[in-house]
Amino acid sequence: MIGHTAETHKKIRKNQSLNMDDYHHPVEKIEQLKRFNFNDLKILEVFAGKGNLSKYYNTISKNVLSLDKETTGNSFDYIFKLRSENKKFDLIDIDSYGYPDKFFPTVFECLTDKAYLIFTFPIVGVNCLNGITEQHYINFWRSNRPTIGDIVGCITDFSLRNWQLAKLVDVSKIKRIWRFIFLIEKQKATILCNVRNK
Ligand SMILES: C[S@@+](CC[C@H](N)C(=O)[O-])C[C@H]1O[C@@H](n2cnc3c(N)ncnc32)[C@H](O)[C@@H]1O
Repeated sequence: MIGHTAETHKKIRKNQSLNMDDYHHPVEKIEQLKRFNFNDLKILEVFAGKGNLSKYYNTISKNVLSLDKETTGNSFDYIFKLRSENKKFDLIDIDSYGYPDKFFPTVFECLTDKAYLIFTFPIVGVNCLNGITEQHYINFWRSNRPTIGDIVGCITDFSLRNWQLAKLVDVSKIKRIWRFIFLIEKQKATILCNVRNK
């Protein structure tokens, strides 16, 4: 991918705010989801927007909570409410335009013992970074141009903090984004640490 100029970036932001399909690729995202059996799971969608994925999720489950700005406000805040109420989900889908970072690591505490974590990640271009974005990527994802491997490594580290093991199930490239699907499974701390509790 080639980097954006300030002008094209402005245009992208405007079209994103108009919720144009070319900018959030619902068809391709749903095609990817359809390759897996996520039926009847308890599903949380954050950044659900105008609800293209919500429509799909509601066809496969009766238990879908979709967070959108208009009803539940800022999803970055609302996740803390769910966490404080000890709410757990079998599948969490983070479909933001930008970086999902601020949901981590809280989101891991909202997963059931065997759950899917799905998220959108903007692919970093060759020369589109400004200094702040560059440092942001380094802080959260180890590199100023995170690879799939960097992201898998960070997700593994986040999950291990809660005695969970992350397994990459799928990653699909859709235009300028990756859609990651991880299976996150709770583990016995004693097994992960190779120690016995006395
Ligand atoms: C990539 S789109 C989601 C598209 C949606 N999954 C669909 O299939 O229709 C991201 C959406 O999140 C909304 N959004 C942006 N910031 C938000 C925030 N802080 N909290 C909740 N929603 C937000 C945007 O307005 C946009 O509608």
